[in-house]
Amino acid sequence: MPDEAETGGEELQFVDRTGSRERAGQQIRLADMARRLPRLVRRSVALAWSIDRWACLGLLVCQVASGAMQALGLLAVSGTIAALLAGGDIYGRLLAAWPSLVMLAGAAAARALLGITVAWLSSRLGPQMSREAELGLLRAVTEVELSAYDAPGFNHRKEAAERGAEVAQDLVTEGQDLIASLASLIAGAGVLTALHPALLPLLALASFPQAVAQISAARVRYLARLRSNGDYRLLSILRWHVGDRYAADQIRAGTMSSFLVGRYRHITDRINRADRRAADTGARMSVLGALCGGVASAAVWAAVVWLLATGRMSVGHAGTAVFALQTVGMALRGLVVGGARIMRTGLYMDDWSAFLREAGGYRMNRGTTVPGPPQQITVQDLVFRYEEAANDAVRGVSFTLRRGEVVALVGYNGSGKTTLAKLLSGLYLPTTGSVTWDGVPTGELDPQAMWSHVALVPQDYARWPLTARENMTLGQPTSGGDADIHAACARSGADEVLTELRSGLDTVLARDWLGGQELSGGQWQRIALTRAFYRPAGLLVLDEPTAALDPLGEHRIFAGLRQLAATRAVVLITHRLTNVACADRILVLHKGRIVQQGTFPELVAEPGPFRDLWAYQHTREAADPAADGRSADDCAPSAHPAPGVPVPVPAPQPAPHGDTVPRTRKSTEGERTSASAEAETDAEAEAEAP
Ligand SMILES: Nc1ncnc2c1ncn2[C@@H]1O[C@H](COP(=O)(O)OP(=O)(O)O)[C@@H](O)[C@H]1O
Ligand SMILES: [Mg+2]
Repeated sequence: MPDEAETGGEELQFVDRTGSRERAGQQIRLADMARRLPRLVRRSVALAWSIDRWACLGLLVCQVASGAMQALGLLAVSGTIAALLAGGDIYGRLLAAWPSLVMLAGAAAARALLGITVAWLSSRLGPQMSREAELGLLRAVTEVELSAYDAPGFNHRKEAAERGAEVAQDLVTEGQDLIASLASLIAGAGVLTALHPALLPLLALASFPQAVAQISAARVRYLARLRSNGDYRLLSILRWHVGDRYAADQIRAGTMSSFLVGRYRHITDRINRADRRAADTGARMSVLGALCGGVASAAVWAAVVWLLATGRMSVGHAGTAVFALQTVGMALRGLVVGGARIMRTGLYMDDWSAFLREAGGYRMNRGTTVPGPPQQITVQDLVFRYEEAANDAVRGVSFTLRRGEVVALVGYNGSGKTTLAKLLSGLYLPTTGSVTWDGVPTGELDPQAMWSHVALVPQDYARWPLTARENMTLGQPTSGGDADIHAACARSGADEVLTELRSGLDTVLARDWLGGQELSGGQWQRIALTRAFYRPAGLLVLDEPTAALDPLGEHRIFAGLRQLAATRAVVLITHRLTNVACADRILVLHKGRIVQQGTFPELVAEPGPFRDLWAYQHTREAADPAADGRSADDCAPSAHPAPGVPVPVPAPQPAPHGDTVPRTRKSTEGERTSASAEAETDAEAEAEAP
């Protein structure tokens, strides 16, 4: 299977353009850890505290108590050994050891209970932390400018923040492990120092090489994971495309499965190579660390034997030292490994908190003027360029749209119709020039207040997994109750859909594996239209609203449009030119400019792009058989102009295909629903067919 990656074509990839996370990953070093850990622990405690202060307090108390129990246990060991090794008969020695043994058992039991309590509280608190972090992220995401989604940097930051929210729950367990290790370190170190002051520094010195090796291995693994992150993301996108129903028919009919699986394998191979390299390096470091650690441990044990042999330490104390050394050694390893882990989680959490603070750098920062329904929308010298795009999508457009008016936007794919509609509704702000609502630039209006006056049927409308009612009211019912919904349904043709729903308006519209009832593409489009007709908004934007509708459904929409326009300003984008006859004015866009405008009769009468488009759609003669090698009779639709619409016989025009700009999509992955896929393909096929 040929693979573009290997044949030199472009390849999908996720790149961290800022390199900030790589830099952050490099920070997993002992010194940085020592500096950052206290801050990290403080922050996790603060987050946990804000969510459930009792659970948080309980955890801290349990950890401190557990540390104390450990120290007590070690002292009990000392007491037991001393009693057992003392002179006298065995009965007397056992009797003397008895209280220490009880203390030892009691401390162990208490620690076990505390451990269970800690696990219980952690498992309650952890998932809550992630849910809270996700909610914070959701709020931040809805506060950003729509244009943020066109910026790769924003999408990277958002993804990193999502990962941060996901791992927030690990902070609890990792924080607990760390605090537990710290508590046992303090307990063990205290006991050890009491036994002999030289032991602790000796042990710390001995643990150092192993700590460095373990941290280095953790850093190598983290960086490898970071570099493979983009690939993991690609895999999940591919999995979605291969596994989701939306493309299942096309994968089969297009016999794409082995190609797609091959592509998947190509990426997994890359990840596996990186993983193996990291694992090898990590293992080498661990071996080195273990060797140094072994030598150092031997030195510590030799010291204990020497202390014992020279009578500087009693046998009882030496026995206790053995336990204490083990405790401190384990605590140190726990601190290092846990520290590296929490550092890594902390880096992800940094991404999350940075996103919340700056909303990925795209927080909406608009005015506060609260508008009424717009009477007049004025566009002046409007220019708009998508972030990082090479050309302007809209170039120097000026016109006025009034309430009571239907303005149609017509043009080839990529001519800027959708972009212009989003500028009119204030979803995008002009790069230069202005869009004003009753004299106030859209950037100075309160965005939520402005959008409450906008009803939008976008090209890619959402199929919310909600009830039919919620899908139509968008969760904002009017005071008219269901009567308003039914009125909107009558306009959009969704009344016919409703009769087929098992619980009427209360039916959940979703795939049946989600417990819902499924709708066809055209039925969904009727629902999407109902939303817009239901909404009491002054500006109605219909972007290719009937691409998936049957001719009857389409006729109903356009027949009712004039009535809707009585109280609204309507922007209509459609490729079916018979339908634009109902518009008061038609603006013909080409490469982002208005190249023609007028009423339908005016435009079909004058030579220009509109008449060309009209001719391609409605006359057999105009379809140039030589242009695509097909016979005009095979593919030209027969003319069915709307009643009263003149059908001119145009002069033959060159085929427009050379000018047709392909739509490029930035959203590549799973968010894209089958609705969008269907609607778009329909619309495009239609626009491109002569
Ligand atoms: N999100 C985006 N990022 C970058 N360029 C875009 C984006 N969306 C559209 N474009 C480009 O802007 C131009 C106009 O697109 P659009 O307004 O969607 O056209 P139309 O609706 O007329 O088909 C096209 O050249 C398209 O490639
Ligand atoms: Mg469009």
